[in-house]
Amino acid sequence: MMNHIPVITIDGPSASGKGTVAQRVANTLGFHYLDSGALYRLVALAGLQHDIDWQDGSALGDLVPHLNVHFDGEQIFLNNHEVSAQVRSEQMSQGASQVAVHPQVRKALVSWQHRLRQLPGLVADGRDMGTVIFPDAQCKVFLTASAEVRADRRFKQLSQCKVAADYQAILQDLQARDQRDRERSSSPLVQAADAHLLDTDTLNIEQAVAQVLDWYQKSI
Ligand code: DC
Repeated sequence: MMNHIPVITIDGPSASGKGTVAQRVANTLGFHYLDSGALYRLVALAGLQHDIDWQDGSALGDLVPHLNVHFDGEQIFLNNHEVSAQVRSEQMSQGASQVAVHPQVRKALVSWQHRLRQLPGLVADGRDMGTVIFPDAQCKVFLTASAEVRADRRFKQLSQCKVAADYQAILQDLQARDQRDRERSSSPLVQAADAHLLDTDTLNIEQAVAQVLDWYQKSI
């Protein structure tokens, strides 16, 4: 029985800023943080390393229990090798979105995610945190922004890091991922009926964090 452990879920589409907001909310409250997208990215990377096709849900699902994954702050380790940069690459963004359609993969990752529900609490970000993984969460947020605003933020981020970026390509890539995430039959991206909608088109990170904290305080 772990239902007394508080969970805040923050779901939403790619590049909506939910990762940054979730991490800051977790830091402010001293809660644990689950980046569930990283798990799907790790499965895509492990599939590549084991020559398993991203379309092969059954082989990928079988692989999950054998993965040795370790998180240390921002760093991600797979079988004792640091893979943080690889996991966050555009190739793994695409791969994660493809492996995430398979029910076998999603099922294999459920217990990993439940294990992270530990005191004093958890902030979980993803697509199905409030709908499927933690349906009893006491505070649920659906954080979104228009595709154009998200593409613009990603473009500026990449430009700041001096990475060559093409706004139209980023926008198309985001729209393709949104469509795959929303239209898959297994745990699609959808706002939970009891989630607060947070549209960040005109909000900065601090304002978004303050709003989530306010909703959480009111839920206690
Ligand atoms: O949040 P992200 O960009 O790191 O997620 C990468 C992909 O993983 C995303 O396209 C969909 C998938 N994903 C998912 O299906 N369910 C989650 N809870 C988190 C991510």
